[in-house]
Amino acid sequence: MAKRASTRPAGRVMFTGGSGKAGKHVVQYLVDSGYQVLNLDSKPLDNPKVRTLITDITDSGQVFNALSSYMGLHEFDPSLRPQQVDAVVHFAAIPRIMITPDNEVFRVNALGTYNVVEAAVKLGIRKIIVASSETTYGLVFANEPKDPDYLPLDEEYDVNPMDSYALSKIVNEQTARAFATRSGYDIYALRIGNVIEPHEYQQNFPKFFKDPGGRKRIMWSYIDARDLGEMTRLCLEKDGLGYQAFNVGNDDCSSDLPTAELLKRFYPKVKVKQKLGKYECLFSNRKARDLLGFRPQHSWRKYVKV
Ligand SMILES: NC(=O)c1ccc[n+]([C@@H]2O[C@H](COP(=O)([O-])OP(=O)(O)OC[C@H]3O[C@@H](n4cnc5c(N)ncnc54)[C@H](O)[C@@H]3O)[C@@H](O)[C@H]2O)c1
Repeated sequence: MAKRASTRPAGRVMFTGGSGKAGKHVVQYLVDSGYQVLNLDSKPLDNPKVRTLITDITDSGQVFNALSSYMGLHEFDPSLRPQQVDAVVHFAAIPRIMITPDNEVFRVNALGTYNVVEAAVKLGIRKIIVASSETTYGLVFANEPKDPDYLPLDEEYDVNPMDSYALSKIVNEQTARAFATRSGYDIYALRIGNVIEPHEYQQNFPKFFKDPGGRKRIMWSYIDARDLGEMTRLCLEKDGLGYQAFNVGNDDCSSDLPTAELLKRFYPKVKVKQKLGKYECLFSNRKARDLLGFRPQHSWRKYVKV
């Protein structure tokens, strides 16, 4: 059971993409934190505590209908009739290139996010959290390996990716910002690092360590799926920031090498903006730490021996 630091009552959340790799853990974390969650996804979620409403986010009519629907059968009881939805968490997407053709990645992600954010705002749902990605920094799916403008990657970076997935996420951030400007609501975009499920530490990290340059393009970022749940909860419980983008990554790198060694071996020509801790990640989570008090609890060092 996750610990909640807040005394504020947990609310009612519509969650898109809750059947996916990241979503299933974040949904569970929110339920454990006391939230009532309805999952909107094109596939069912195998979780007895969470109902799924099969919804296609690329169909605006379905999205409006789903976001204004009952959250559970108990609401048919007149004494428990539907109440206001407090927030939408939007994770549904095609999560990278090379799953569908590029134009389909762009269509589903850009149109789907437009539909979700527009419907939420027009229905008066005042908190919206949108999954963006570390690919927005333009390195992960660049045609040729390239150096970043500076390190660590932070939210002030001039993002300009070249692939259809990251481009869809940039468009989504701009969509979120436009609707935040229009409505005055809080809309936060989470630039999520590589999501790690609990079973993946022992399965994958020894392989990562054998190939120190293998995760260079993702800046050795990673985020435990449960810590992503905590970040989502913190965003649900913060008000008044308007539109924001946050990197969501762990404090340390998914490498057993010190950060100075990674820089020396793999990015020797790149300007380093600030003094870094011995193992501090080059995908900076300082903004989330400062504005939201985010403190990731699951470093790989808890689970893998070196
Ligand atoms: N996994 C990562 O490392 C990672 C990193 C950065 C960002 N992200 C982002 O986080 C979010 C979740 O990623 P994930 O790894 O869980 O992906 P996933 O593919 O496992 O889950 C995505 C979910 O979206 C649903 N979906 C896709 N198209 C849909 C549609 N048209 N209508 C309704 N549902 C639809 C899928 O059924 C699936 O359950 C995505 O937005 C992804 O871009 C993931």
